[in-house]
Amino acid sequence: MQIFKEKEALKRTLNTLRSEGNIIGLVPTMGALHEGHFSLVKEALRSSDQVVVSIFVNPTQFDNPEDLDKYPRTLEKDLELLKKAHEDLIIFTPNAVELYGERVTSEHFNFEGLEKVMEGRFRNGHFDGVGTVIKLLFSIIEPHKAFFGEKDYQQLQIIRKLTERQQLPVEIIGCPILREDSGLARSSRNERLSKVHREKAAFIYQTLLKTREMFGTKSAEYVTRWVENQFQNYPFLKLEYFEIANTKTLKKINRKRKGNQYRAFIAAYADDIRLIDNMPLNN
Ligand code: PAJ
Repeated sequence: MQIFKEKEALKRTLNTLRSEGNIIGLVPTMGALHEGHFSLVKEALRSSDQVVVSIFVNPTQFDNPEDLDKYPRTLEKDLELLKKAHEDLIIFTPNAVELYGERVTSEHFNFEGLEKVMEGRFRNGHFDGVGTVIKLLFSIIEPHKAFFGEKDYQQLQIIRKLTERQQLPVEIIGCPILREDSGLARSSRNERLSKVHREKAAFIYQTLLKTREMFGTKSAEYVTRWVENQFQNYPFLKLEYFEIANTKTLKKINRKRKGNQYRAFIAAYADDIRLIDNMPLNN
């Protein structure tokens, strides 16, 4: 395993590998690695010759400084786990100045409306921060492929839009959501949940499963109201939003149309911990 903190040294190594014909796969992360991240690494290893994992807690995507402070940083443990996963990984762990230069600020993007809904509505500037850091990572690493989880489905679609609009020569690969046995989507935030809340948070997944079942015969509006009601009667979680949206545009739907694909999206709080999840409804 090779660990780089400096971009120039990393670039040199990757240039050599690229010139020898190796396919470079990138898995961007913010560390605090769990099985969800490793499912991306595994997928990357399957279809690339050299996998780069970046670990960088990106300040520009946090709309709340407290969240940034509280974000778990477990570099030593992450590196140990990565070493066990595969001996030939390349790890990039820059600091903010190394990655951004002196001005750690976001570029402003137009993602054709994808950034305005759901997470974008509740997390000011979040996707500008994500777009900025991913563009920077792509420009340094120049991967042939980059792997992102469907856990953050809106982020995945936004990165697809970023590469399309900026004509970046990288293939974006979406990977399925990895879940705990209870069905709760794996997340570094799960570690912060109390035992009771971790158990009770499986309600999100159970509700999504029922949503998918009901969506076959009921309208989106009916299902949405039903879900909102379910959460109102469930004291352990506080629903922030539930939306049924078109998979491509992420626009909330009013009426189902044949041939379109839909997904349900949830954000909910367990205590002060914000959890998100989503599920395809008709594919
Ligand atoms: P982070 O939250 O560390 O997630 C890194 C990648 O792991 C993302 O693509 C995310 O969707 C994926 N992931 C997380 N939990 C998952 C799960 N349970 N199943 C499948 N994939 C999962 O997302 C970010 O970091 C940042 O926004 C980043 C893209 C690195 C930009 O800073």
